Amino acid sequence: MERTHSNGTLRLEHVGQHVELVGWVAKKRNFGQLVFIDLRDRTGICQLVFNESFSEKVKEVRNEYVIHASGVVQQRQNANPDLATGEVEIAVEDFYIVNEAKTTPLIIADETDALEDTRLQYRYLDLRRPVMQEKLIMRAKIGRSMREYLDNHGFIEIETPMLGKSTPEGARDYLVPSRVHPGSFYALPQSPQLYKQLLMISGFERYYQFARCFRDEDLRADRQTDFTQVDIETSFLTQDEIIEFTEEMLVKLMKDVKGLDVKAPFLRLTYDEAMNRYGSDKPDNRFGMELHELTGLFTNTEFQVFKNCIADNGSIKGIVVPDFAHITRKEIDKWTNLAKKNGAKGLVTLKAKDNELTGAARKFLTDAEVASLYEALSLKDNDVLFIVSDTWNKTCNALGALRNGVASQLGLKKKNEFSYLWVTDFPMFDWSEEEQRYVACHHPFTQPRDEDIPLLDTDQGKVKAKAYDIILNGFELGGGSLRIYDNKLQTKIFEKLGLSDEDIQNKFGFFVDAFQYGTPPHGGLAFGFDRIAMILSESDSIRDVIAFPKNANAKCPMSKAPTPVDPKQLEELHIAIVEE
Ligand code: AMO
Repeated sequence: MERTHSNGTLRLEHVGQHVELVGWVAKKRNFGQLVFIDLRDRTGICQLVFNESFSEKVKEVRNEYVIHASGVVQQRQNANPDLATGEVEIAVEDFYIVNEAKTTPLIIADETDALEDTRLQYRYLDLRRPVMQEKLIMRAKIGRSMREYLDNHGFIEIETPMLGKSTPEGARDYLVPSRVHPGSFYALPQSPQLYKQLLMISGFERYYQFARCFRDEDLRADRQTDFTQVDIETSFLTQDEIIEFTEEMLVKLMKDVKGLDVKAPFLRLTYDEAMNRYGSDKPDNRFGMELHELTGLFTNTEFQVFKNCIADNGSIKGIVVPDFAHITRKEIDKWTNLAKKNGAKGLVTLKAKDNELTGAARKFLTDAEVASLYEALSLKDNDVLFIVSDTWNKTCNALGALRNGVASQLGLKKKNEFSYLWVTDFPMFDWSEEEQRYVACHHPFTQPRDEDIPLLDTDQGKVKAKAYDIILNGFELGGGSLRIYDNKLQTKIFEKLGLSDEDIQNKFGFFVDAFQYGTPPHGGLAFGFDRIAMILSESDSIRDVIAFPKNANAKCPMSKAPTPVDPKQLEELHIAIVEE
């Protein structure tokens, strides 16, 4: 198809030139004898002007038709400052319809009120909207910048299998039945974790991959069933060295994609600090409202709730929200419910005015306690103080959720502000109430901190790991760890996770075997590529930066996947469906 220019590229300097353009009809306006059409392609919109001689033929043209037009670029009488091509237009000399279009079920414009399922059902049209194209173009740019960094720093791109054996990332696997081996299944990778470690044993030293990963878990705004990791592994580097090159890559990324100069090194918080100060292992530090430790102020309290908490070795903490004292009873109930939903038994809400606190719990506090709260927290008139007293974990989690909720409501989470930080020294194990055993917090190949190794036998829950997460604006952008390369230590960790020799052999026998042939010290991390694209494109959902995502119900409204299959296919796979 003849085309001399892309529509979005025309400027005053082209005035007088004869051009040929193609694209979709974004808008058609009739002005008496003249008809105007905004012609759209990937690069933008250009205005076409049809004179009277086209009045009959142009009547046939409707929105989203594909047309070809030729004509001369001229300066517009009334420039449109909102459009990059707003100073010019094309005086059409000839045009033809390349293809017709039915009326589209959603309007092809940046603003849309279409339901998300409609957008996903007609995703190919949703993606025609310029705002969506920008997001996917930015996603490609992010990928290019990261690849460029990794290629230039000695990383080798290596692909690993899609059909493999279950990996221990903790979510449910998607299974693929084998036709050739009846009753046996491949697992789609939750991540290439085992393979990338094996590549270190092979001696590649620096590996990366844009890896498609699959996890059968409940979906959220930042989670998909199938997503992409920028997966990285290195040999012979310390944790600090891994953190440093990652920062260098992210600094370059922010410059390449957003034109921003981000300063490294990023803030580093240990897990304990992050929880104590922000009530979250993925803190958003674009705003303040940090948690305050208040347990010490209430050692002699008569307030039963606090007293019991202290007796149970719990933790009393609070956050102060400035100028929030206008909140109503109903709003207080809302925040109380949020705290409860996040594990707290209740929420103490106090309002500050004239050196006094008001609120339902005030009567349980002594004047001296109120005075010490004023002093410790530098309370000002119209501050609201939220206090939670519970186990350390629950107190932190509930206040962290509250802090995030209040910040969202107050509009403190500015999408065009980017704050990176690291959280390090994660717990090695989580206690699983469901399984009544310790499970790996990151994965079972993560190194414990050297100084904590003795705790493995005395106080397993206190062991911290050489694991780190990179956080951006309160989202976990990526995570990784140094891996165990000592067989004895690995066996011990498996033991502590309650895995029998048989379990180990069945689950990762091939992996453990490989470790006997000269394993280098190694470690790495993986980024959630979709999450980076979501945050940098200032989107609300990961679905906005994935071309064909699943909806929150893990369905594809366009293809209708997952769908039942032909009984013959099931037969070949030796699978029978059992009706519940
Ligand atoms: P982890 O499980 O923390 O680590 O995953 C790494 C990053 O992948 C992203 N992510 C997701 N993104 C979208 N949808 C999902 N369902 C989803 N799950 C995870 C997150 C997360 O930080 N093998 C280890 C990494 C390592 O140790 O090197 C791993 O997969 O951004």
